Amino acid sequence: MSQESGISTFRDSNGLWNNHDIMEVASPFGWQKNPELVLEFYNQRRKQLNEVHPNAAHHDLAKLEKYFEVHIITQNVDDLHERAGSTKVLHLHGELFKVRSQKNENLVYDWKKDLSIGDLAEDGAQLRPDIVWFGESVPNIMIASEITEQADIFVIIGTGMQVYPAAGLIHALKTDVPIYYIDPKPHPIGTANPLEIIGEKATFGVAKLVRKLIKNIESK
Ligand SMILES: NC(=O)c1ccc[n+]([C@@H]2O[C@H](COP(=O)([O-])OP(=O)(O)OC[C@H]3O[C@@H](n4cnc5c(N)ncnc54)[C@H](O)[C@@H]3O)[C@@H](O)[C@H]2O)c1
Repeated sequence: MSQESGISTFRDSNGLWNNHDIMEVASPFGWQKNPELVLEFYNQRRKQLNEVHPNAAHHDLAKLEKYFEVHIITQNVDDLHERAGSTKVLHLHGELFKVRSQKNENLVYDWKKDLSIGDLAEDGAQLRPDIVWFGESVPNIMIASEITEQADIFVIIGTGMQVYPAAGLIHALKTDVPIYYIDPKPHPIGTANPLEIIGEKATFGVAKLVRKLIKNIESK
């Protein structure tokens, strides 16, 4: 979704950041070993997010709310869906513009600037990015699953379908729910649901699908 806004996808980076293994900057192990490096990684991500904008695909999904009840379930940690105007956005892997106490995951704060060693939560503990790191549980997956169970249409946009539990959400769908999968390099999806693959980038693919969905309801 955000690649065309200038944010590279996870595997496009080859699992590396400035020659550091991504595990060094996005895991509890990395945080323990070198918290300064982890904070620097997320400070740069936050700076970049302050400079980019929602693209046409974010805007098209926001406009779709005029016609459908749209729930966005995202692995992205940016706020571009919210900035485009989507009102129901669930972040599975956390949010870049939030930080939390490293001792209490419920002490969460909005944070748009750099985060440093010595920035403390109200419980006196060091603040850390409010990001779900590799090896950590995904607290919002139950809510995501409940939303998926209720869906009448399911759209997958820009994912390698390799990271669980997100990639397993399709198994919560009712069996007759159509799935649309938009990705310029789509990966195999194991499902018995009706599946339409739109092998395009998000901006083009979402525009195409939104036109089709709106036409379908207007002709009813
Ligand atoms: N997996 C994680 O733990 C995690 C954490 C935080 C954020 N994210 C982000 O969530 C997204 C999906 O995660 P993933 O693990 O499946 O990433 P991934 O890198 O495995 O897959 C990215 C997918 O996006 C597709 N893509 C590239 N440019 C596109 C575009 N313009 N429009 C549509 N699709 C495009 C690629 O073909 C690929 O299939 C990525 O952007 C990733 O950076 C993932």
